[in-house]
Amino acid sequence: MNRTFIVAGNWKMYGSRADNASLIEAIASQFPPAPLAQTIVCPPFVYLQEVGRLLRDAEIPVALGAQDVCAEAQGAYTGEVSATMLKDVGCGYVIVGHSERRLGYGEGDELIARKFAAAQAKALIPILCVGEQLAEREAGRTQEVVARELDAVLELCGAEAFSHAVVAYEPCWAIGTGRNATPEQAEEVHRFIRDRIAARNARIADGVRILYGGSLKAGNAGELFAQPDVDGGLIGGASLKAEEFLAILAAARP
Ligand code: PGA
Repeated sequence: MNRTFIVAGNWKMYGSRADNASLIEAIASQFPPAPLAQTIVCPPFVYLQEVGRLLRDAEIPVALGAQDVCAEAQGAYTGEVSATMLKDVGCGYVIVGHSERRLGYGEGDELIARKFAAAQAKALIPILCVGEQLAEREAGRTQEVVARELDAVLELCGAEAFSHAVVAYEPCWAIGTGRNATPEQAEEVHRFIRDRIAARNARIADGVRILYGGSLKAGNAGELFAQPDVDGGLIGGASLKAEEFLAILAAARP
């Protein structure tokens, strides 16, 4: 199965109107004429609409994604942002279950599965993040944790939902630490994720893009992207530097 790569930048809580404009300008100035990956940027909520406009003006094929979404469709949920609103401002994608939400804001598997469903209900493509903490890896519990996080979504939405979703394997110990998973460590978990979806639906599993995230940069993208079950990357820190981000994009394979 030929899976088109995805290279997605998670800007987290960085940037300003001026920084965003310079970043998009720098990306646009060197953007490849025929990129081998679907490219996505995920700015903070307040900048989504303006970044969408900057991307359109720059005429580069970069899609807009959000970093989170409310599990509810609408209502009295102070501070939350709905899938309908994200769609309204031009988002095509949304990250759900990032470990910074799971660990820093106590988001559990069940809530994340509902966010995944809420996104899909409004035709947004969820990027579901899964991944173990260092102590869990050291205790040999990586597969158990990833299975639990994945199963919550499989149970609620079914394997078929993964025909319009992306999975990102992000080992927590590799996020923002400069310590990436080795290509072998990544491949092992990516294969495990694909097999687990395949146990329910082999065709869907074959097509689902599984991204690696965690200290991905220009210097290690090539070897990680060479793994058969790594279909691109979710990039934090390095996505804020145009040169790094474009070098990662250039490492995508057809
Ligand atoms: P990092 O973050 O690339 O800065 O490690 C990745 C992520 O959190 O998605």
